[in-house]
Amino acid sequence: MAANNTPTVIAIDGPSGAGKGTISRIVAKKLGFHYLDSGALYRLLGLSAVRHHVSTDSEQGLMALAEHMDIRFETSNNGAFKIYLEGEDVSREVRTEKTGQMASKVAQYPGVRLALLKRQQMFAQAPGLVADGRDMGTEVFPAAELKIYLTASVEERASRRHKELLEKGEDVSLPALVEQVRARDERDMNRDASPLRPADEAIELDTSSMSISEVTDTVLNILTVKGIK
Ligand code: C5P
Repeated sequence: MAANNTPTVIAIDGPSGAGKGTISRIVAKKLGFHYLDSGALYRLLGLSAVRHHVSTDSEQGLMALAEHMDIRFETSNNGAFKIYLEGEDVSREVRTEKTGQMASKVAQYPGVRLALLKRQQMFAQAPGLVADGRDMGTEVFPAAELKIYLTASVEERASRRHKELLEKGEDVSLPALVEQVRARDERDMNRDASPLRPADEAIELDTSSMSISEVTDTVLNILTVKGIK
């Protein structure tokens, strides 16, 4: 817990494929903290918009959906992370590259971001939270005890994503993925509302040539050095 009895928050931001999800989940499990996959909220909104025939051009329509969408996150005993939309398990659908592109479109609207802000902040429960996203350290949890910004080269991130998608049976060409990752970076970094950027006090880690366990150990060491855990 932080000094004022509010739950400890660790913000892990960065572009797509930098390893935020994997690292955040491992760190959360090791610390016994809650985990927020904020990208999933934007992905769920993209899916919900398709299902309810709300255009990605309609900020008002998307805001209404964002406020009311019926979503649930569940971590099962074997550690599997499940995502539900209106009671239906959409864990696979939510992770496709097509849904990721939809997410980055709906995420551009300030009204949508505001509608999702409170929903994200509610995840900060005792004993603590590891929050993964693009603006965890800058907008959603500006007072987070630790802010990490994970990066990796576009090629490395596309290649990781490629492996992940192949394992899930989705066959996307690597050059096409490099272009999609670039397009998503471009949109996420250049939008007016909460663009992706490291928080001033964020510790930046380039994970291009690091293994998952090396990144996890580095983050855990930083926590120890900072006296957070
Ligand atoms: O992290 P993930 O790839 O699931 O995020 C999908 C998209 O949602 C991102 O490309 C970004 O546009 C948006 N997003 C965001 N702010 C966050 C998390 C995700 O704008 N905190």
